[in-house]
Amino acid sequence: MTAGTGTGMTEAFAELRAAFPAERLVEDAERLAEYGKDESDLGVFPPGLVVKVDSAEEVRAVFAIASRHRVPVVPIAARTGKSGGSLAIHGGIGVSVERMNRILEIRPGDLTARLQPAVITGVFQAEVEKHGLFYPPDPNSLDTCSIGGNVAENAGGPRALRYGVTREYVLGLEVVIPTGEILRVGRQTIKGVAGYDLTALFVGSEGTLGIVTEVTVKLLPRPRHVATALVCFPDLATAARAVSRVLAEGVIPRCLELIDDVSVQAIAKGSPFQLPPGAGAALLFETDGNDEEQVFAEMARVAEMVQGSASGEVIVAQNEAQRRDIWETRKYLSVALKKLAAAKLSEDVAVPRSRIPEMVARSREIGKSHGLLVATYGHAGDGNLHCNVLFDGERQREAAEAAVADILRAAVDMGGTITGEHGVGLAKRDFLEYEQGPAVLGLERRIKATFDPLGILNPGKMFPES
Ligand code: LAC
Ligand code: ZN
Repeated sequence: MTAGTGTGMTEAFAELRAAFPAERLVEDAERLAEYGKDESDLGVFPPGLVVKVDSAEEVRAVFAIASRHRVPVVPIAARTGKSGGSLAIHGGIGVSVERMNRILEIRPGDLTARLQPAVITGVFQAEVEKHGLFYPPDPNSLDTCSIGGNVAENAGGPRALRYGVTREYVLGLEVVIPTGEILRVGRQTIKGVAGYDLTALFVGSEGTLGIVTEVTVKLLPRPRHVATALVCFPDLATAARAVSRVLAEGVIPRCLELIDDVSVQAIAKGSPFQLPPGAGAALLFETDGNDEEQVFAEMARVAEMVQGSASGEVIVAQNEAQRRDIWETRKYLSVALKKLAAAKLSEDVAVPRSRIPEMVARSREIGKSHGLLVATYGHAGDGNLHCNVLFDGERQREAAEAAVADILRAAVDMGGTITGEHGVGLAKRDFLEYEQGPAVLGLERRIKATFDPLGILNPGKMFPES
């Protein structure tokens, strides 16, 4: 879209200055650059101006001004996205929800909660736990990401294996769409089937249909016991086959994470938990429940299934500190890998579980064919693999992008998807059609136009630029 340049932008910004107090606007170049970044490694795309909104009514006011002048609007939450969803690639107005950071209510009797979009996911989890409750989705950035961003991207994480992703927990939303309507979609009850499931449509719409100003979620009773274990393997292929074996036996632990040999090297460079020497790959798994004996029995069952091909004993975390170190090591893998190469592109394909060993091998071969190393780790239990193409800075960027393209297509060819949890955004917009075909993409574009007829909301995301 070409809107948002020249006089339109100047006039829109002038109207925003008149409508909002100065301290709620960001116009300083250095601070704007911060709003133009996320965790995607795609570059810096600052908005021309950021408005920090306080309410749905204020979002509506921004949309009215943006519509009058055909200026792009980009929703910004905690900027931890991995696919460029919040990057202002066409400049325009950044709508930051950062001030809307209150937990509005926790209703233990109903097992629900209502909260504003900028509540940090980890903070919310800790708060509900005080009531003996549990909000399972745990993107690895949970100490820094927020519920609004999780809703936009339908975030997953390690516990999605047993508990599912964000969409499974969102009952209702307050959302403002570019036409200026403030909508309350969904419900406050656990069950409910009235009308189209617009809540599910907004969850994972990557900030292309509306801006969420309130979220109602479902909670679970908190499982009283959790057991965490780690087991090493001589090589990646053996570890990947062990994942398939566990799942084929019908055991679904709460997490089942794979760490490959390249990731093992990254861990060796100073992570809090050190793997035994000689480890070629590892699996991290976790079981939970209310009956301690049962939790350990399940852990023992998984251990039994993998031990035959493992390269040592199953290491069971002995206390909370050890558990935390193991998880910190896993959580920061994405960051730790940066110690091995000047740059990386990290993907999040998902394949049917039976194809996990094949996908792991294929991504490695693809890397090799482009002269690059690929590190694979992630939520192997649900077939969701983070294939990280490591490269040596700009001179290898083209090769890295070609490798990524091959990896995405390979996942689709195996019956999988280009994105298991990070979203399409800017990173994968050219591959959505390969997965979904032109008819589905056409319908999605028409849905987008119903919510956003002027095409002002987050243009250039999810779909290829038209
Ligand atoms: C992780 C992020 C990259 O699982 O999704 O570490
Ligand atoms: Zn992940």
